Amino acid sequence: MAKQEDLFKNVISHAKEYGYIFASSEIYDGLSAVYDYGQNGAELKKNIKEYWWRSMTQLHQNIVGIDAAILMHPTTWKASGHVDAFNDPLIDNKDSKKRYRADVLVEDHAEKLLQKAEKEIAKAKKRFGEDFDEEMYRETNPRVKRYLGERKEILERLARSLTNEDLADVKSLIEELEIADPETGSKNWTEVRQFNLMFGTKLGASADSATDLYLRPETAQGIFVNFLNVQKTGRMKIPFGIAQIGKAFRNEIVARQFIFRMREFEQMEMQFFVRPGEELEWYEKWKETRLNWHKSLGLGEENYRFHDHEKLAHYANAAADIEFDFPFGFKELEGIHSRTDFDLKAHEEHSGKKLRFYDPELKENYVPYVIETSIGLDRMFLAVLSSSLKEEELEDGNTRTVLKLPAVLAPTKAAILPLVKKDGLPELAQKIVDDLKWDFRVQYDEKDAIGRRYRRQDAAGTPLCITVDHDSLEDNSVTVRFRDSMEQKRVPIEELESIVRKETDFKTWMKDFI
Ligand code: GAP
Repeated sequence: MAKQEDLFKNVISHAKEYGYIFASSEIYDGLSAVYDYGQNGAELKKNIKEYWWRSMTQLHQNIVGIDAAILMHPTTWKASGHVDAFNDPLIDNKDSKKRYRADVLVEDHAEKLLQKAEKEIAKAKKRFGEDFDEEMYRETNPRVKRYLGERKEILERLARSLTNEDLADVKSLIEELEIADPETGSKNWTEVRQFNLMFGTKLGASADSATDLYLRPETAQGIFVNFLNVQKTGRMKIPFGIAQIGKAFRNEIVARQFIFRMREFEQMEMQFFVRPGEELEWYEKWKETRLNWHKSLGLGEENYRFHDHEKLAHYANAAADIEFDFPFGFKELEGIHSRTDFDLKAHEEHSGKKLRFYDPELKENYVPYVIETSIGLDRMFLAVLSSSLKEEELEDGNTRTVLKLPAVLAPTKAAILPLVKKDGLPELAQKIVDDLKWDFRVQYDEKDAIGRRYRRQDAAGTPLCITVDHDSLEDNSVTVRFRDSMEQKRVPIEELESIVRKETDFKTWMKDFI
């Protein structure tokens, strides 16, 4: 655990040192759970957005993108259920005065039981070698069975109590499981209460006539209220999808995990409209499609797992998370929900406008069902950053810090480095920059010895370094150094464009996963 905490601390300090993430309004000591993206962070974030946007709207002929406003008519949030039900159960520790999400305390306890079971299984696997039958061991080993059984019981009871709004039982569960404040060990808890996460604001100049509004807590509703606009003007036929990237705001109770849980964050959401009755088939398809998208980035397939929801949100008939192994364990990265016709129907009722589709094949009018894929951009950023940061032992006994970002997402694709600051090398290097800059974000760097420059670019995540030396003036060749393997290759200058393209191109990364 200590090692994991160290890793997380390293990620946070590296993010600051290399211009990826700063605390918001840091000179005033920051604002809790709000962050700014620096010069490299803004580029990485933009590239993640681009990777998602192109995968959705360019690789699927039947998905289009929109950009709806953050402020929406207040009735939107009545219809969506957020005004009445967008709550988290909170609990305070009376001794430490720290506030927690009661459901998260219980879920973390259940996760520890799962980890204990997995540890037993891993030990047995090592002991029995090739003959090991994992399935059988899970079902028969008394300790593993007990851990997994207890976990299931706890999660089912939590789901039941939350669905029934039985907050007293959530408190009892915390007491029965003897869950302590993770920071102080105290078990002196308050009652569990509901807390609405919406940020309110006002529209209008005078206090009397101002209207109460909310900052949107999800981008999805901007898609639902535009369903008919897009369907009609884009002549879309079901099945089709509407994608959107944008800010969302939630007054989170606990926000202590860097950019994992923020009060202002960005979502990349897609609502896929389908025929009623076909939603579960599409739900399975989108689960697979989204997992493949993640796999395409090469962050390690073992870092992902599905978590099927026991407690379904008020709008869903099936739901799963894609969880990622963050430095603090497996947590939700993306949600895939079968949202039925809940939202469109609710907006029909509240607006009095029909939100239906005439299906020419079925010769029928209906309210479409919806599959939603919803990923937090900042969480994706954290997944990429934390799994890319490595400390490597080198053959010569030294270590290097390297940020092995997927090259397609890296802020700078190549650094162009003249070996020395004289003899015409800077001029040739600058010429290469001027050629490549039209297609790629590249950086000229002449300061310090070449080894230090390589290390600097490794730590900043630049996948390629291009070194111009005295021979380059004679043979029109340069040395390309690859960040991950540190392999160096002599190549003609005229081939640079295609080399950088091959390493960093969207198609190179995505094509085998579509
Ligand atoms: N429209 C459905 C929806 O908003 P959600 O599970 O509440 O569902 C979707 O959020 C995704 O948004 C999550 O999987 C997560 O990646 C991201 N997300 C949610 N709350 C967040 C927060 N406070 N900070 C950062 N990302 C968040």
